Amino acid sequence: MYGSGYIPGLDYTKLNNSIAQEDPQKLAEFEAKIENGDKIEPHDWMPQQYRKQLIRLIEQHAHSEIMGALPEGTWITRAPTLKRKLALIAKVQDEIGHAQLLYAAAETLGKPREAMINDLLSGKSKYSNVFNYPAETWADITVIGFLIDAAAIVNQLLNSKGSYGPYSRALKRICAEESFHLKQGYEGFVYLATGSPKQRKMLQDAVNRWWPPIMHFFGPPNKTSVHSEKLMKWKVKMASNDEMRNRFLDQYVPKVWELGITLPDPNLRKNEETGRWEYTEPDWEEFFRVIKGDGPCNKERIAVRQWAVEKGRWVRQALFNPSAKYSLPVA
Ligand code: COA
Repeated sequence: MYGSGYIPGLDYTKLNNSIAQEDPQKLAEFEAKIENGDKIEPHDWMPQQYRKQLIRLIEQHAHSEIMGALPEGTWITRAPTLKRKLALIAKVQDEIGHAQLLYAAAETLGKPREAMINDLLSGKSKYSNVFNYPAETWADITVIGFLIDAAAIVNQLLNSKGSYGPYSRALKRICAEESFHLKQGYEGFVYLATGSPKQRKMLQDAVNRWWPPIMHFFGPPNKTSVHSEKLMKWKVKMASNDEMRNRFLDQYVPKVWELGITLPDPNLRKNEETGRWEYTEPDWEEFFRVIKGDGPCNKERIAVRQWAVEKGRWVRQALFNPSAKYSLPVA
């Protein structure tokens, strides 16, 4: 119903339920290929764990793109100027396009799109923690456009060098568009930071609200990350969670501070000897609560997706089975 995820010979349900013993020789050849920097393509042999991990990660990423459009989408009608409105419309449209690219990349691994959407709606499949918080003011949109897009770029630039061809190519294109988002986010951030006392306060309040979820964005500390070891061995994930967090702090904290905006962590500083940033660990219990479905906006976000699935069903039916009878939704 959502397009073709069918791969001859691959039974997705079976894959999901059993992880088979791998042929040691094929596994060794596969790992040598990755070690050599070659890309793995959809019809190449791959271990089932690699396939399963990629589906989990890419699908989660795709869901994050469509969920990420929701807090920003609520501000399209309230953008302060026509220029900001046009930029926001274009950005939201881009994010949905990113989801399309990523769902298509995940489909090459054999999971049908309909199954991915069902897993999102049932809560089986996760999406980024940050999109479960409300955008209370226009400054929240500015913080999302600057700091969350910056965080996403740190992650995606690294992973675009990863081993799975379709994901790596999708990320290259996504990063090019995200760079524009980041520029417009930063321009809006500077505008508010150098504006009236009211604008500066609105921005500072938004930064204070978003800082903990942004620190959560890169995932739990290395010592509690479940998937990193395997993902990094197979070059799906190109840096650890703490390494990505450190790169983000290194690039973007100075840009915030130079505008006289503070960050709500008295321990945040760069240790010049180690080159590493020191900070107060954000509340990880809150993070796990939010990603398990109990954040401020989870229910609202899922309800919007459910609504979209129901209202769009007739369009998908018409596209994929034009000769069948279908009924238009009642408004
Ligand atoms: N939001 C929601 N869930 C998150 C998360 C986040 N910011 N960070 C980690 N998690 C989840 C993981 O999915 C995993 O849960 P699961 O086993 O039920 O899938 C759990 O927390 C433990 O984390 P970890 O073992 O560190 O997961 P990981 O190795 O997959 O690393 C990311 C987490 C986000 C760094 C990694 O998945 C990634 O790079 N994803 C692609 C980029 C992306 O999704 N970006 C989203 C916004 S643009």
